[in-house]
Order: sequence, then structure tokens, then C-alpha cells
Amino acid sequence: MYNKQLFAHVRGDFPILKQRFQGQPLTYLDSAASSQQPEQVIEAVAEFTRTSYANIHRGLYHLSELSTDLYDRARQRVARFIGVEDAPTVIFTRNTTESLNLLAYTWGEKYIEEGDSIALPVLEHHSDLVPWQQLALRKKAQLRWIEIRPDGTLDLDSLQEALTHKPKLLTFTWVSNVFGTINPVEEIVRLARAQGPITIILDGAQGVPHLKTDVQRLGVDFLAFSGHKMLSPTGIGVLWGKRELLERMPAFLFGGSMISSVKRDRSSWDVLPNRFEAGTPNISGAIGLAAACDYLDSLGMEEIRRHDQALMSYAIEQLNNVPGAEVLGPLDVNQRCGVLSFYFKGIHPHDISTLLGREGVCVRAGHHCCQPLMREIGMGGTTRASFYVYNNEEDVDRLVAALGKVAQVFKGVECGPGCELRPRKVLVQSGHRQLWPACCPKSQCTTCLAPSAHNRALSNTMDSCSPDLTTPTLNVDLTTPRSQQVPSEGGRKDA
Ligand SMILES: Cc1ncc(COP(=O)(O)O)c(C=O)c1O
Repeated sequence: MYNKQLFAHVRGDFPILKQRFQGQPLTYLDSAASSQQPEQVIEAVAEFTRTSYANIHRGLYHLSELSTDLYDRARQRVARFIGVEDAPTVIFTRNTTESLNLLAYTWGEKYIEEGDSIALPVLEHHSDLVPWQQLALRKKAQLRWIEIRPDGTLDLDSLQEALTHKPKLLTFTWVSNVFGTINPVEEIVRLARAQGPITIILDGAQGVPHLKTDVQRLGVDFLAFSGHKMLSPTGIGVLWGKRELLERMPAFLFGGSMISSVKRDRSSWDVLPNRFEAGTPNISGAIGLAAACDYLDSLGMEEIRRHDQALMSYAIEQLNNVPGAEVLGPLDVNQRCGVLSFYFKGIHPHDISTLLGREGVCVRAGHHCCQPLMREIGMGGTTRASFYVYNNEEDVDRLVAALGKVAQVFKGVECGPGCELRPRKVLVQSGHRQLWPACCPKSQCTTCLAPSAHNRALSNTMDSCSPDLTTPTLNVDLTTPRSQQVPSEGGRKDA
């Protein structure tokens, strides 16, 4: 049970959540994409802008000294949040993606050689997959995939199998952004290290915002995460690494701030963290992130975890009561956090999220930047609700009520053999053809598996069940019973 009193006032700290959407409270369930910011974070950034703003490190006047001091203190604050004493080993980046690319282009370029193996789970976000895939292509190295079990948890036998190839690198996510599964980091690290020398990277984008983080306890070599998923502004992220590894890595971006000396024909690099922070950094973002750490610690990460588990448990129970809806991933809330993906038989996730959006319920739909995982589970995409400190049971109730309306709109839409081969009758304004893989298992869904050149181009940016923007669409009005709805001639062409 979580401390309801503590969380009762939290929502009030978030000005954006005071807005109403067509008279309804805003139900923000997309924090796994980007979380909202409390007044305390907004004010910390505003106060810095009003009183102390200047570039850091270079100015010898008091504003620059003030700004430098605040930036340095922000680093110390973030270091403390993740259990790091050696603050210069915390490098500020733009986001998780940049942190992981930094590693691929520095550590990876230096240490990965032809024939080496890189182990990673199939459930990785593209940010922790594409940089390694590209590195492997550059170096003629091999990716060793760690598979998942049917409940979305990591298959540790498959991990062991991958480890028999003696990979130089193991990289994996702490929490899956599709299933919400928490990977057992310490156990994985123990198994990996038992096989011999290995470098281990943890993608903490979904873990750090929800789980108490102590890098010493986790035992990894590098940790990457993003501020915008943990109450801070966009454009600030973190790469933490062990000092002895960071110091041996080549520099990444070159230019101002990261050098110690520049001659006409060569240069040398500054010490940590400057070596990896070329150019003017996101000073305001760092200050915002430090304020976000203060805010999260004021609630307590253990308390945040209890709140998440309670909400998750309630949401799973409620969603499982909605006919047609099925929750993906483990049902045990001890094994998951933050994220709840589900599918709805016969309804495309983009259509669900479009209709939910009209009810003021903000969720995400699609492949969630995990296309290899989607292929693995035979789905073009899922609908994903994600929770954070400002959500409560009423948000879940509004989600479920809105889903009830979605089900009404699609009532009578048949899922049957061959349904994947013809466009559905009911289309919503977003214009997605109804090709929901739940009714088209991966072996049969011809559009998913053998897309036309046109659809393939679209599916690079969208769900693998591509929208057909030329198909006439029906404007679905949730307030009008389906029987009275009239198809619009020609439909909308914009998505
Ligand atoms: C597990 C995971 N890793 C990496 C990322 C990439 O984060 P960012 O877009 O902040 O770089 C995300 C974003 O959703 C994520 O969920």
C-alpha cells in the first residue's frame, strides 16, 4: 500500500494537469515518452534564467561564476541521485540516445574488433540497438540476441547461450518500454561477469525515473538515462561511467570546452567531465534535472515504487475486465513498472489512441521504437498507458471508461479468417486501415510481412501496419451512436 496522503497533493504541483480537455480532467498516461514538470522544476529553471543566466566556465564575472557553480552543483546532485560519489564521472548529454551513441562511437570504436560479439536483448529500444547494429556493421562484429519468454521477461537461458560467445559487450534495458518488465540487473551482471571480462551498459531510460538507483549495487559499467522522463525539461540526459573506463575512451565531439590545449596540428583533451561535453551544454536543463531529483527524493523513490505497483495492479485488474482488452507482459507487479501495454482485439492501436485522445486520455500507440520486438511478438504495435507520480486510480478509471466508448464505436467489427486481406469498414480520421495483428497472426498478415514498396516506405516511420492515406475514411464521432454516423465522401487525407 502506498502513502495516499503523500500522493494526494502531487497532482497539484503540475500546472499542466490543471487544464481541462473539453470539460474533462486531463488524463496524462504517456510519461514513458515524456513526463510532465512540477512547479518546483519550472521555477528552478525560471529562477536561474531570471537571476543567474550566463555561459559557464569561461566568464570571470560574477554571473558566469554563479552559473558555473549552479551547473557543477547540478552534476553533484544528479550523481547523488544515482549513488555516485565521483561527480565528474556523470556526463551531461542530450538524452539516453546521445549517451548510447557516445559509447558506441568512443568505447565501441576503440574496443570492438572484427569477429567480436555484442550481446543484447531483442526487446531493446532502437536507441540501444541501432548504435550497436551500426557499430557491428562497421567492425564486422556479431550481434548475439537474448530472447524473451512469452510473458515478456528476459530468457536467462538465452542470455547464458549468448554469453557462451564471450561477448565483449552486454547492453540491455533496465525496464522495457513496451512491457514494463524489470530486468533483474544484478543477476544478469553476475551471470555475465562469471563468463569472463565483459563491459556492461545499462539503458536506464525507463528504470531511473521509477526505481531507486545505485550504480555500485547494480554493478554495471555505464548507465544512460534521460531527464525528460523524470520530471525535468527535454534536452538533458546523462551518461555515467566508471572513471577508469571513461578516462581510457577517446573523445566524442570535438570543439570548445573539451580541450586542454590546441596546437595547429594537434590537440589534447581536458579531464572528466569536460572531455565529453564539447560546446556550450544545456545549463538550464541540468539545473532542471537537479530540481527534478530533489522533487523525486522528497517523495522518496521507495514510496514512488509502492505507488507505481499499486496503480499498476489496479490498472491490470481494470483492463482485464474490459472485454477484448489484453494486457501484455508479466501480470506480477513486482516484475514490472511504469508501463502498461495492451491490445484490443480487432482495433488498431492508432485508432484506440486517437479515440482516447478525444476523451482527454493521452496514451501512446505503435511500435514504441521496438520494431524487432514487435516482429518477435507478431504485432504491428500496441497501445501503451504509462504512469508516473501524478497519476492516480481516477486516471485508470477514465482510461477504462474511454476504452468502453472505443469498444462501442468498433462494436460489430468482425475479426475473422482473411480479415487482414481487406480494409475494414470502420476507419477513423487518422485513416489507418484496420489490420490488427491480433486477428492476423504473424504468419498470415500479408501486409505486415510483405508490404508493398509504398507501404514499406510508410512503415519505416509508422507502425508496420501502415496507414493507407488514400482510403476514404469515416469520421467517427464518439458522441454519436454508430448507427447514425455518416461516412464522409473522400474522407480526410491528412493523418
Ligand atoms: C528504454 C528506452 N531507451 C531509450 C530511450 C530513448 O530515450 P531518448 O529519446 O530520451 O533518447 C527510450 C525512450 O523512450 C526508452 O524507453
